Amino acid sequence: NAAGRVELDAVIMEGSGLRAGGVAAIGAVANPVSVARLVMERTEHCLLAGEGATEFARANGVAILPDLELVTAAALAEFEEMQRFPTSVKTLFNHGLAHDTVGAVAIDEAGRVAAATSTGGISCKMVGRVGDSPLIGSGCYADDFAGAVSTTGHGESIMRLNIARQISLALEGGAPPDEACAAALANMRRRVGGCGGAICVDRTGRAAA
Ligand code: GLY
Ligand code: GLY
Repeated sequence: NAAGRVELDAVIMEGSGLRAGGVAAIGAVANPVSVARLVMERTEHCLLAGEGATEFARANGVAILPDLELVTAAALAEFEEMQRFPTSVKTLFNHGLAHDTVGAVAIDEAGRVAAATSTGGISCKMVGRVGDSPLIGSGCYADDFAGAVSTTGHGESIMRLNIARQISLALEGGAPPDEACAAALANMRRRVGGCGGAICVDRTGRAAA
């Protein structure tokens, strides 16, 4: 973030019971999706943020690393560049720069689906800024009646249109996965001008990116 600290967002969801867990603006943990899973499995909540999320991770045996252990030389160079030449988050996302979201979708032989998303957000982001990634229905969604979806791109656009949930509803209605993703992303571009991407697998195992 702009203060030079690591803040991460992550989420996980499973489609049989619609169970989900997320962490927002958590400190330097090596595997934030695993902490999101702990939120899902060990709390009665769906999303923990900031110091509360970091403290929860520590209390559950997850190591809090020195920030620099999660910062590559390339990321540091990017941060310094952003400090010198600030630009809008949207501009960066729409040009495919300065972000690093990772997503996963899965289906098992019984047709149970799951999805997860993890990100450092964006270099030099405002302290406390949370993107779409940890938000259920925005950064990810999983429903055995539809499929599993994980998204990437401009968080402030994705969260306002609940892109993962939109794709999920299209899959539930029987839309082919590639069309479901393309339609939701094109609508986002039209309505709020943000760029993004998605991966999904539907309840029959058809996948698209
Ligand atoms: N609907 C308010 C809350 O759950 O915090
Ligand atoms: N989609 C990642 C972010 O906006 O942080």
